[in-house]
Amino acid sequence: MERVLVTGAGGFIGHHLVKFLKKHGYWVRGVDRKHPEFEKTSDDDFKISDLRESKNCMKACKRIDYVYQLAADMGGIGYITEYHAPVTRNNALINLHMLEAAHTNNVKKYLFTSSACIYPQYLQNKADAKALKEEDAYPADAEPGYGWEKLFAELASQYYRQDYGLKTYIVRFHNIFGPQGTYEGGREKSPAAICRKIALAKDGDAITIWGDGKQTRSYCYIDDCVEGIYRLIQSDYHNPMNLGQGRLVTIDELVEIVAKIAGKTITKNHDISKPLGVMGRNADISLAKKVLGWEPKVLLEKGLEITYRWIEAQLLKTGRL
Ligand SMILES: NC(=O)c1ccc[n+]([C@@H]2O[C@H](COP(=O)([O-])OP(=O)(O)OC[C@H]3O[C@@H](n4cnc5c(N)ncnc54)[C@H](O)[C@@H]3O)[C@@H](O)[C@H]2O)c1
Repeated sequence: MERVLVTGAGGFIGHHLVKFLKKHGYWVRGVDRKHPEFEKTSDDDFKISDLRESKNCMKACKRIDYVYQLAADMGGIGYITEYHAPVTRNNALINLHMLEAAHTNNVKKYLFTSSACIYPQYLQNKADAKALKEEDAYPADAEPGYGWEKLFAELASQYYRQDYGLKTYIVRFHNIFGPQGTYEGGREKSPAAICRKIALAKDGDAITIWGDGKQTRSYCYIDDCVEGIYRLIQSDYHNPMNLGQGRLVTIDELVEIVAKIAGKTITKNHDISKPLGVMGRNADISLAKKVLGWEPKVLLEKGLEITYRWIEAQLLKTGRL
């Protein structure tokens, strides 16, 4: 049986990935500094461990064939705008120690999860910005802190492949969302934050939206994401690849879609003092289509409906609704 390590298995994408890999017959070790928050883990071997420590990465990679490196100190735009130094330090330590541990333990394949935040800010200053292609990454002008570290870790992964022959894969996620993700506390992303605010609002209430609501993004549902990275690690493609959905929506449109799902009329109070990130960001996914035959199957409306119902159920369960 092939043995897989998923780091960040206590987090949103990692938890879904572990379930997917178990269904596909792998032996899975999950490592994180916390357990999954909302559901019991299904790994064969789950370890609580801090991957900023080299010795812990070495232990995690023992007798492992494939590594999916998802562990990261991350959050929504508020979080990554506020914390540059700790995010850079924590993630650089995790990524460098994990690469070295994978190489030392003769891991066969290593997948690194990068981000749309590596793309130059100068290409994203208009709401109708052109969809980002992989080669647009340079000349670099990444998101401060989080984005620059991801770009550095992409390069480090490529150097380990060039110098040591470690088969590395690099995926750039563009706003992945779905159930079992953080929806409160400051690390949540825009779809989860909007679902929570609308679930807690009464019909006719106003909710606060960060920015002027005109900033645009594209969102990809978690099931499509997990399928995409699984296909990538089976391929022979080693350069960075976008994974997202090429449909651009404004934040105001996102609010309208969720309000419709909730069956509520919602007024938007725009708070332009809050961090809003780049003005427009979309994913060009033609490379993934060509190389992996992959494209997202879940419509934004469908994915948001599932996510909204799940967040609503969590709020009910914890007595807030
Ligand atoms: N969700 C997205 O839209 C998105 C977008 C771009 C990139 N990514 C990347 O995908 C990966 C997974 O993201 P996610 O959305 O599941 O985030 P998440 O925050 O839910 O999961 C990350 C996990 O890493 C763990 N972690 C952090 N520091 C650790 C440490 N020192 N040791 C061990 N574990 C540690 C956290 O506890 C968390 O459970 C991350 O690398 C993230 O940067 C995600």
